[in-house]
Amino acid sequence: MSIRYLSEYKLFKIDTVNTTYILSITDTEGFIGHVYYGKLISDDDVNYLLRTSYNKWLPSQLPSERNNFMDMFPFEFAGSNTGDFRESSIEIEDINGNRSVNFTYDRYEIIKEGFNRNHEDLMPSLYNKSETLVIFASDKVLGLNLKLYYSIFDKEDAIVRRSELINNSSTSIYLTKLLSMNLDIDNDDYDMITLHGNWGRERKIERYKINPGKHLVSSIRGRSSHQENPFTAIVQKNADQTKGDAYGFNLVYSGNFMSQVEVTQFGDLRFCMGINPKNFKFLLETNETFSSPEAVLVYSPNGIGGMSRVFHNLYRNHLIAPNFAYSKRPLLINNWEATYFDFDDEKIISIAKKAKEIGLDMLVLDDGWFGTRSDPNTSLGDWFVNESKLKGGLTSLVAKINEIDLDFGLWFEPEMVSPVSMLNSMHPDWAIKISDREPCLARNQMVLDLSNPEVREYIFDSIATILRSCNIKYIKWDMNRQLTDLSSSFLPKERMGELSHRYVLGVYEIQGKLLKEFPYLFIENCSSGGARFDPAMLYFSPQIWTSDDTEAIERLSIQEGTAICYPLSSISCHIAASPNHVVRRETPMNTRARVASFGVLGCELDITQLSSDDINLLKAELEDYNSISDLILKGDYYRISSFNENNTHDSWMIVSKDKREAVFTFVQVVARHNNREFRIRLNGLDPNCLYRIESELFSESMTLHGNVLMNAGIIIPYAGKDYVAYQFKIKAV
Ligand code: DGJ
Repeated sequence: MSIRYLSEYKLFKIDTVNTTYILSITDTEGFIGHVYYGKLISDDDVNYLLRTSYNKWLPSQLPSERNNFMDMFPFEFAGSNTGDFRESSIEIEDINGNRSVNFTYDRYEIIKEGFNRNHEDLMPSLYNKSETLVIFASDKVLGLNLKLYYSIFDKEDAIVRRSELINNSSTSIYLTKLLSMNLDIDNDDYDMITLHGNWGRERKIERYKINPGKHLVSSIRGRSSHQENPFTAIVQKNADQTKGDAYGFNLVYSGNFMSQVEVTQFGDLRFCMGINPKNFKFLLETNETFSSPEAVLVYSPNGIGGMSRVFHNLYRNHLIAPNFAYSKRPLLINNWEATYFDFDDEKIISIAKKAKEIGLDMLVLDDGWFGTRSDPNTSLGDWFVNESKLKGGLTSLVAKINEIDLDFGLWFEPEMVSPVSMLNSMHPDWAIKISDREPCLARNQMVLDLSNPEVREYIFDSIATILRSCNIKYIKWDMNRQLTDLSSSFLPKERMGELSHRYVLGVYEIQGKLLKEFPYLFIENCSSGGARFDPAMLYFSPQIWTSDDTEAIERLSIQEGTAICYPLSSISCHIAASPNHVVRRETPMNTRARVASFGVLGCELDITQLSSDDINLLKAELEDYNSISDLILKGDYYRISSFNENNTHDSWMIVSKDKREAVFTFVQVVARHNNREFRIRLNGLDPNCLYRIESELFSESMTLHGNVLMNAGIIIPYAGKDYVAYQFKIKAV
């Protein structure tokens, strides 16, 4: 594990435990080229991979064909308008209206890093990097400087890249695009995997062959979005959960992004990732710097499963706050699907009492406790308690909840303002809108202009005042609409193109400030369900609300997709009512609980209305969850089968790091017409270890070796009906 400059070969070699990434500089021109990314290789001269020596076609040798060279060379960070017609990583507009930009190498630095988690940095970033390579480059004509950062970690096979542009010229420029990275690699008949969806159907895994041309996933919605996630994988055609090359990329950013795979005219592949250049135009004055968000790169030769486990370890060890990453999460009940807006203090207290009885730890009061809000049409921005609903106010309610021996959590939607609100009547200019244009409302609300420091201060003060006034351990930070009508009454017109990015920085600033004053505070981010499930949100919140679709069967593919790169301990899953409020499907309590036990479990139903049978079942399932919650927080995830692919069943395992304990969950979604049992091969166990397997399916426990469980598999009897879930606890004997 090291970053070195191999001077004899003029190569920068970035080795993680099992992978190597190489870049190199061409002699005369100083072009920075990509050489290799894959399995760990020896310190040999692999510059031949640049293909520059074969036919003497470098511009210094063949100036008449400079354009051909520029359009073919594997640039480590592609400029624009200088002969490379593939996707660029940077675009600018200079004082004369010209748009050419290209960088050549100046020098490098290798920095030893340590723990560095600073809430005052506006851009969330992975902490405790071991080493960072900084490549300094410049556009000598424009006087612009570029820094390319490559960081590695002690134990994880991941690289984090980002870029920084410094305007060292004497005039201002417009920066119209600055991606975090591009990667030029040879094509290997790869497939592409993306996470696609919409409200209530987030992050469904899509896999497709990469054909010539550009394949773009992106968001211009002001949030990372339900529709596409800032994650892309490029995998070998034969790659599955256990084998094959898998490259995964994830952007640490919560706003507009682009992630694109391009197959060039020569069949090579260029991958790009970063802030979406659409709706982005940044004025960079002399001496000003613009920094991109970080992009995480993972290569695994062990298939998609291998790649997922690297992401999970990386995010638990280097992204989620260390005081929460591996610590027990509160088992909470949220009143949203129990009451929606229709509650008062008595109702909330009755839910809390029942919650204590069945073993929950916390009550979270959702939307509707403030202003005059009793439907989605008013009061966002008016963050003071509605005492006609909650008599005695929040302090009294929190005290009563604490007396029941439950912790208390509270919902906010801080970034919004309702047209009908005191805030909007006092500060109509604080909403993002264009003055003479009808604002495009969504859920009857508008978005606050977080580029304006006064607005950010108002939001911070509103939340902090409440947090200072009573014992609130947790907040659910919601964000329920997309950004439209991009215009700010605060920004000057030459900076209007900065709004979308400054908005995202504003979110980070407020959450960072809150965590600084209230370091114990547990934030769960949420955005109309899971429209902001991204690594940047994980920096502030150890878990994220996954989807407003709380129905167990629908959740299977949402949770499977989410876990492709996000750890199970970040995936917030609630047991909801049956029939489910979103899709009306009826499923048994056990199935709902076991599907919610995929990640961080909570409840979101009116437990005061449950039958005593259901209460007993729920109680038992919660106890069961407590017995495996440590595995979920700390273990390794193995996807065993996918309902998304086979249309009958879904299953997964979580195995402790020492492989002495595991849990296997199997959901038979659709009853099969031939009554045949399922034979399922497990994964991740120690082949030579003898395990005891317990399940409600067996009258006595079984003991089998890991190699039998993984090669021969286990038989799961046919349930004879839909929506049945079984859980198997596996322990080394
Ligand atoms: C959207 C969230 O995803 C829900 O969980 C709930 O908090 C509602 N907003 C409340 O308005």
